[in-house]
Amino acid sequence: MANTFTAAAQGLPDETTLAAVIGSPIAHSLSPTLLNAAFAAAGLTWHYTAVEVAPGEAEQALNDMRSTGLGGLSVTMPHKTAVANAVDRCTETATLLNAVNCVAPQGQELVGHNTDGEGFLGGLAHDANFTVAGCRAVVLGAGGAARAVVLALAQAGANSVTVINRTAEKAQETAQLAGPIGHTGDHQSLATADLIVNATSVGMHGGPPGMPCDPTLLHPGQVAIDLIYHPLVTPWMAALKKQDIEAHNGVSMLLFQAARAFNLWTNQPAPIEAMENAVTAALEARSHTAQ
Ligand code: ATR
Repeated sequence: MANTFTAAAQGLPDETTLAAVIGSPIAHSLSPTLLNAAFAAAGLTWHYTAVEVAPGEAEQALNDMRSTGLGGLSVTMPHKTAVANAVDRCTETATLLNAVNCVAPQGQELVGHNTDGEGFLGGLAHDANFTVAGCRAVVLGAGGAARAVVLALAQAGANSVTVINRTAEKAQETAQLAGPIGHTGDHQSLATADLIVNATSVGMHGGPPGMPCDPTLLHPGQVAIDLIYHPLVTPWMAALKKQDIEAHNGVSMLLFQAARAFNLWTNQPAPIEAMENAVTAALEARSHTAQ
């Protein structure tokens, strides 16, 4: 693979610091929108680009990052585990999740982070007036997103985290990330939860149709977060809102995990408002074309 991680290869002035996201497919990633808005708002001569990297080629991309002095790297499907194994060091969270979504250079080392959990908690604080400490949470799903959320909720002091998933073994494995407060459960657990998170792909544009659980099992006073952001309002969220249940989509998690990446790479606080405006405009344009 030719090294695309240079300013010259991107047609940019040499003084530009480059950051990138690698994944496959990567064409519809919103990360360039979020990070370029952040760099512009912060007045930094950085540029963020999306690079299609085929499965099995993530290690090469990391080597390219070492040789070109890339400012930062985001990692998405299908490379999160490969990158966790290829960086010099992982944070404790990335090690527990065995998944890296953000690589930051630190001295001579490339450090693997996972900012999804922080993104989730940041988004929750932004969207809802909700205290995680002491709460009873139910997470629907047991994939990569669910794992990050379960760990983050436990680290933030939840009283219990119950995982419900179609495939029972995966529910068990994911619940274990929460340690003694982690359990598997069934839909009966929904009634007594304070927070319900959909981390399945059910209701996602192009994903399985339907709802991740029967919305009538929830009641007003609970907070529901659907990690999906395309569409902006899923059928599940719409049904919950009709029942006067507070429901939010996954835009804020996306926003805050990118904000954390910005912060790790630049050591500056992220310009949240500029990033939010940019991603909201992009998502609204996308929902009109239903891409
Ligand atoms: P991600 O890494 O983005 O979280 P993933 O690893 O593909 O995505 O996980 C998708 C989640 O949605 C899984 O929990 C999956 O359930 P299984 O573990 O049983 O596969 C869940 N999911 C996908 N399609 C589903 C469906 N039709 N009904 C219920 N759950 C579904």
